[in-house]
Amino acid sequence: MAEGAAAHGSVNPWVALAYLAAGVFFILALRGLSSPQTSRTGNRFGMIGMAIAVVTTLVTHDLATLPEIGIAMFLGGVVGVTVARKIAMTSMPELVAGFHSLVGLAAVLVGWAAYLDPGAFDLLVGDAISPVSKVEMGLGIAIGAITFSGSVIAFAKLSGKMSGSPILLPARHVINLGTLAAILVLTAMFAHTPGMEANLPFIIALTVLAFIIGFLLIIPIGGADMPVVVSMLNSYSGWAAAAMGFTLGNTAMIITGALVGSSGAILSYIMCRAMNRSFISVIAGGFGADDSGGGDGEPREQRPYKQGSAADAAFMLEQAEKVIIIPGYGMAVAQAQHALREMTDILEEKGVEVKFAIHPVAGRMPGHMNVLLAEASVDYDKVFELEDINSEFAQADVAFIIGANDVVNPAAKTDKSSPIYGMPVFDVDKAKQVFFIKRSMGGVGYAGVDNDVFYMDQTMMLLSDAKKMVEEIVKALD
Ligand code: TAP
Repeated sequence: MAEGAAAHGSVNPWVALAYLAAGVFFILALRGLSSPQTSRTGNRFGMIGMAIAVVTTLVTHDLATLPEIGIAMFLGGVVGVTVARKIAMTSMPELVAGFHSLVGLAAVLVGWAAYLDPGAFDLLVGDAISPVSKVEMGLGIAIGAITFSGSVIAFAKLSGKMSGSPILLPARHVINLGTLAAILVLTAMFAHTPGMEANLPFIIALTVLAFIIGFLLIIPIGGADMPVVVSMLNSYSGWAAAAMGFTLGNTAMIITGALVGSSGAILSYIMCRAMNRSFISVIAGGFGADDSGGGDGEPREQRPYKQGSAADAAFMLEQAEKVIIIPGYGMAVAQAQHALREMTDILEEKGVEVKFAIHPVAGRMPGHMNVLLAEASVDYDKVFELEDINSEFAQADVAFIIGANDVVNPAAKTDKSSPIYGMPVFDVDKAKQVFFIKRSMGGVGYAGVDNDVFYMDQTMMLLSDAKKMVEEIVKALD
């Protein structure tokens, strides 16, 4: 490392200013991303901030030769563009989890590199690394390793490579707390033991334990709590980056890491509130999770239900005064949002009032439904959050459920053994008529449990791919 942020404590003021500007752009980016209307501008601010941070780092640090940096950027860029082009919207959460694992791994590698070659990182005071730097290093490695193994498990669960139901080890809380305490003790011993030969066992042990605890913290979380895990790992990856910033003496990384860490923590908190879960219980690794939970593999009861056609649905929709549409993951899979907008337009022309009800965890990522509806140019003022619209179902003629399932499942209110128990859900049973679009009676929602709404008197099952069904309804309405 050369001038710039090199010697910790003697930061070149121009570099500090550039990093501050990058930090301001990142804050503007987060602000922009808080609403669909301003999200594109937010993204642009983020890109500008990142460009300033990268260019400043490259011109002020003697990191590698230009061709080496060029090759690394080219390879990373090719992978990034290929993944971004190929990835389906529905696979976004696992992609995000996968990327978080890379941030964690990078933090571990940076920490180890700084330990093995402290001179290159300007960390030597005399001929040793100071205890403070070693604490930063130890924490950075620990947070990075937790983020890495936790994200790998989240990736496996979200992509279906591993069962999504909670895996509850006996005495897991004691094991988790014990492991966390051991990591802290090892970090302190590492910091206070001079000499590489003497402190090497401590840093190895803390790295291994941190990889293990990341794994242990995520395996007990399952079913409907996975969204919280994604945003929590997002937060961890931010703290890992901030810790790396301390090791590297890079203020831009400290600012960015702290922004990601705290915004991820706030999002996790908001999602916990939306799911009616305790924040502490989720971050402590399924604390309080009921060992009886999980609907996977349970035999499904055969119960009578009513099935209808697109023509039946179109006829009843035309007669309705008020329709509330509840989109979910299946709408995203089918990409039915454009057809749905067309259906909404026709109904509104016919004088029907149409509103959209969005559950905070509908789909597979925060804001998933909002993004899809915005893409189909649905007016934002027709889109309502759960708490703002739930009381309106009693006045609705039709609750039109399209590819949603868990978010309308009354078991969340009534069945204590259900994995979604406690999560607020839409009161669709209060609507006069319920239309339920899904492909088959056999398919379940993310939490893997049956849904009483299928069998209610006022429910008409519309069994088909969501896009196909809505297109047929549109034809019938025309
Ligand atoms: P889900 O409960 O997952 O239900 C999806 C429904 O869509 C199923 O009934 C499925 O039935 C149907 N479906 C799938 N493909 C379809 C298609 N092509 N056409 C028509 N229907 C289709 O969805 P939800 O109500 O949106 O609930 C979200 C769940 O995911 C919650 O449990 C939540 O905790 C969890 N989760 C959310 C997130 C975030 S952040 N939003 C992240 C991870 C997990 P068929 O298979 O029979 O068609």
